[in-house]
Amino acid sequence: MLEIKNLSKKFNIGTENELTVFDGFNLTINKGECTGILGANGCGKSTLFNIISGVLTQDGGEILLNDENINNLKESERSKFIGRVHQNPSMGVSPSLTILENISLSDKKCQKFGLKKLINRNKIDEFKEILKTLDLGLENMLNTEVKFLSGGQRQSLSLLMATIKKPELLLLDEHTAALDPKTSRLIMDKTRELIKSHSLTTMMISHNVRDALNYSDRIIMLDKGHVALDVRSKDINEKELMKIYNSRNYESSLAEAV
Ligand SMILES: Nc1ncnc2c1ncn2[C@@H]1O[C@H](COP(=O)(O)OP(=O)(O)O)[C@@H](O)[C@H]1O
Ligand SMILES: [Mg+2]
Repeated sequence: MLEIKNLSKKFNIGTENELTVFDGFNLTINKGECTGILGANGCGKSTLFNIISGVLTQDGGEILLNDENINNLKESERSKFIGRVHQNPSMGVSPSLTILENISLSDKKCQKFGLKKLINRNKIDEFKEILKTLDLGLENMLNTEVKFLSGGQRQSLSLLMATIKKPELLLLDEHTAALDPKTSRLIMDKTRELIKSHSLTTMMISHNVRDALNYSDRIIMLDKGHVALDVRSKDINEKELMKIYNSRNYESSLAEAV
């Protein structure tokens, strides 16, 4: 379970561009569930992920994961139990390393090791089996540098790497937004399979109302630093959700234009 208590975050403090993104924000994410996060552009979804994963420091408030306060842990320490997939397919992988090296890195995230010891030959078959489940032929390309992969292949690899150590929390930030519809579907289905098979506690930011509804157990809509809607996916249909989403987006774009 993730608990966010009384979170506050401003950018550009003391300048004319000062921006309050969160001011007393509270949210609890249930263990083993996938929570879809919707909200207008710029409402603070990625900032929330950056704070949870330790990329940004909040001005106030607490983050508790399974009852432990993680406020004082660095990003690198949090990454041992928080998996993250970004919108940009290049961000979760090291492009100049091979598929095998990338997977080995995420598999060894919790251990100290020398570079020479990165590749554990005994694990190659296991990695191949994991890659095979993607059905993209990556298991036959272990020594290919990741920069030669397509966006969809990279994103699939990022997803596998983010989940290989079965994280306490999985953060997905519009992780299919940069992909074509077919690849996006493939990755979403793979995402669901991984979440369900490992009962991963997941937060999934999406710009796609239908995906959020179909692939999450619960939907949260953020607006102006607050939870504007919090429903079980089974209790709302796409049309109703779309209506609320569009009206919120419309209000936000009006506010921005002022
Ligand atoms: N590091 C930063 N420095 C200054 N402003 C930022 C920073 N990160 C995000 N912002 C601003 O905070 C607001 C929320 O951004 P973000 O969390 O990326 O929104 P989104 O909901 O689209 O993911 C935006 O206005 C954005 O410009
Ligand atoms: Mg974002």
